[in-house]
This record gives sequence, structure tokens and C-alpha cells, in this order.
Amino acid sequence: MWRRVAPARAVAALALASLVCGAQAAEGLLDFSTEERQAIAAHGPWPPPAAIDPSNRRQRDANAVALGRRLFFDPGLSASGQVSCASCHVPARAFQDGRPVAVGQGPGVRNTPGLMDVAGQRWFGWGGSADSLWAASLRALRDPAEMGGDEAALQRRLAREPALAAVPEGDARLVAAAKALAAFQARLVSPRTAFDDFRDALFRGDDAAAARYPLPAQRGLRLFVGRGRCHLCHVGPRFSHGEFADIGVPFFVPGGVDPGRHAGLQEVRGSRFNRLGPFADDGGASGVATRHLRSEHRHFGEFRVPGLRNLRQTAPYFHAGSAATLTEVVRHYSTLDPDRLHADGERILVPLQLRDDEVADLVAFLETLSS
Ligand code: HEC
Ligand code: HEC
Repeated sequence: MWRRVAPARAVAALALASLVCGAQAAEGLLDFSTEERQAIAAHGPWPPPAAIDPSNRRQRDANAVALGRRLFFDPGLSASGQVSCASCHVPARAFQDGRPVAVGQGPGVRNTPGLMDVAGQRWFGWGGSADSLWAASLRALRDPAEMGGDEAALQRRLAREPALAAVPEGDARLVAAAKALAAFQARLVSPRTAFDDFRDALFRGDDAAAARYPLPAQRGLRLFVGRGRCHLCHVGPRFSHGEFADIGVPFFVPGGVDPGRHAGLQEVRGSRFNRLGPFADDGGASGVATRHLRSEHRHFGEFRVPGLRNLRQTAPYFHAGSAATLTEVVRHYSTLDPDRLHADGERILVPLQLRDDEVADLVAFLETLSS
């Protein structure tokens, strides 16, 4: 059972729970401090309330969901007639493709993100080149690297869709299709996990139930919210604060560099399909963050902080798929070279120099974030 509790009450309930339990934890449960319990509670509850996007009036419309589902699996939308969204965003793989980088992409090659829980994000794509789920979907429809970018063929296919026949041809029809695709993707919410049961049990002071969570995962979680400082970026129910950071993953690609957030920011600001543009259904009201974007040098080589649910289904990891396993990811944080980070960038990251058993504990914890 999980409850939705307002933050102030949550803290009070936690304080109470830790008073009742004292420092004496049940057998099989680490003696988590009040601070640790609070940090852990910040990663729930799950599932979160449905994400609402005021810039997409049809986000929760059942007809739009049905249309979006049809379009998502339709290879007729691609220039070649061979590729659908689901070719790369494969449902059985948490809506990604298991490849280091997507097939058919030019320079700037990137890993295909999974789409579970995608609607909860603030920015879309590794560089944040879109500020809404519908704009990201529209981008995919038009991108030569994704669906092929043959706009005339795309318009012809959309014209045959009865639900879109009444919508004026051109951008308006493309946007209507993208908003339907968004409505479908907004329904992709991942199931509860062993971590969620633990978090809720700890939260309500049921230490006996919490003790069922394996000890290696508990130790890994303690590192995650403690010495590892992972939760400074990977926080909240989705395990991401939604913004961008440089963690020293190489961003050289064949023929140049992937500028990451720097290019994404330019693109989203310049796009007529952003939240400030004429196609947003709320007249720009939800575009405050987009309006305030400012380009800074530190954005070079920054990538979006990914959420950490479903990791068991979404290897390989990082923006160019450079880590094959979670152990490799954790070793990256253990041994990272501070000189590789921007001078004016992160002050959070230091090489953690973890022992092998600590690496294993962190991996055990990360694995409990998948169902
Ligand atoms: C050829 C493989 C491929 C195809 C086909 C494809 N995508 Fe993608 N998709 C990607 C890659 C790679 C990215 C990351 C792009 C980036 O970071 O710039 C991505 C990113 C996205 C995102 C942003 C996800 C996030 O976590 O921010 C959404 C949403 C998305 N695609 C939806 C779609 C839809 C809808 C379609 C069909 C119209 C589609 N994609 C077709 C490979 C693909
Ligand atoms: C300064 C912010 C920050 C901190 C602190 C941080 N991360 Fe990350 N994490 C990121 C960013 C940014 C990426 C994506 C980097 C890239 O692909 O270039 C990432 C990627 C990951 C991934 C890969 C996810 C995927 O789908 O590809 C995992 C797993 C992960 N981090 C776990 C951790 C763990 C465990 C810790 C603590 C030891 C940690 N992170 C600390 C920002 C951070």
C-alpha cells in the first residue's frame, strides 16, 4: 500500500516513524537514520500522478491514445515504409532497442532512450532538444535519422487517417499526429518494484516489511543517498532531477563531438514547435522554463540526467551506449577522472574509489529499480 502524502506531512510522519522505531532496526534491516529515511522517501511514491501537459489538450483523450498507438506501430509513416517508432522503441525492451546507438543515424550518434515513464520528463532527448513529449514525437516524425524525413510521404499517409481528415493539412496535421503519439506514450508507466515496496514500508514505519528488501540492495541504497551522492542528480520518483550534467562520459563521435545540451538548447529555443510557439494549446503558459533558457559554455558535453527505472531492460547505458553493464556504469563513478569534467562544471562528482563489494551493492540496488 502506498499513500500520497503532502511533503510537510511526509516529513512529520517520517520523524514519527523514526521516533517509534528508534535507532533499533528490525533484524535484516540496516539502521537507517532519519536523514537517510527522508532521502529515500524522496524517491516515491510510485506510480506518480498522471503527468498533465497543458500544451497538449488531447494528452488524456482516449481517442487520441488509440490513434497514437496505431501511428506508433505503423511503418507507413517512414520514408522507406519499413520503419515504425516501435522498430527502435521496442515494447518488449522497455521501448528501446538494446543497441549502443540507434541504427541509421549520422554523426551525433546516440543511444535510443526507453519510453517508459517518458511523460514525466521536463526535456526530451539526450540534449533536451524538445520541451514537450509531442514536440519530441514530431521531431522523430521529421528527422531523417529516425523516420526518414520525407515530409510529403508523411503528409500523404496522415491524410488517409480518418481522425485527422478534418485537421488542415501541413504543420497543423503533423502536430495533431504528434499530440496523439504523445497521448499514447503518456500511458507508458512502469510497474512498481521491490524498491517501491521497501520505500513505502520504511515510510510507514513497518520495519518488519522493510526487512524483506535484500541487504545488498539496502547497502547499495545507503551508498546511493550517502557517500555516492547519486541522489543529488538522480532524485524523485523517476530518479532524475530532469536537468543536465557532465559526468565525464566521452562525447567524441566519429567526425567530431556531440555538443549535448548546448545544441539541444539552441534547437528547443529556435523551434516553432516549442511551448512558446503557436501550436501549444495553452498559449505559452507552460513555457516559462523554455523562455528562461540561456546558453552557457558549460552546456557543451552535458547530457540529460536519465531516470533509473527499468535499467535491467535498457542496457547498454549512457548517451552513446558506451557502458555495456551496470557494473561498468558504477565503475565509471568509482574511477572517474576529475580533469575530464568541466572546470566550471560539476563540483558534486569525485572518484568514489569503491571496493568491489561496494560496486556489487550499488548494482544490486540499481537492479531493484526494475520489476
Ligand atoms: C532509428 C531509430 C528510431 C526511430 C525509428 C524512432 N526513434 Fe525516437 N529516438 C531515437 C533516438 C536515438 C533518440 C534520442 C535522440 C536524441 O537524444 O537526440 C530518440 C528519442 C525519442 C524521444 C525522446 C525520449 C526521451 O527520453 O527524451 C521520444 C519521445 C521518441 N524518440 C519518440 C519516437 C516516436 C514517437 C517515433 C516514431 C514517430 C520514434 N521515436 C522513432 C531513435 C528512434
Ligand atoms: C552530477 C549529476 C550526477 C550524479 C551525482 C550521478 N549521476 Fe548518474 N548520470 C548523470 C548523467 C548526466 C548521466 C548520463 C551521462 C551520459 O550519458 O553522458 C548519468 C547516467 C547514469 C546511468 C546510466 C543510465 C542510462 O539509462 O544510460 C546510471 C545507471 C547512473 N547514472 C547511476 C548513477 C549512480 C549509481 C550514481 C552515484 C554513484 C550517479 N549516477 C551519480 C548524472 C549524475
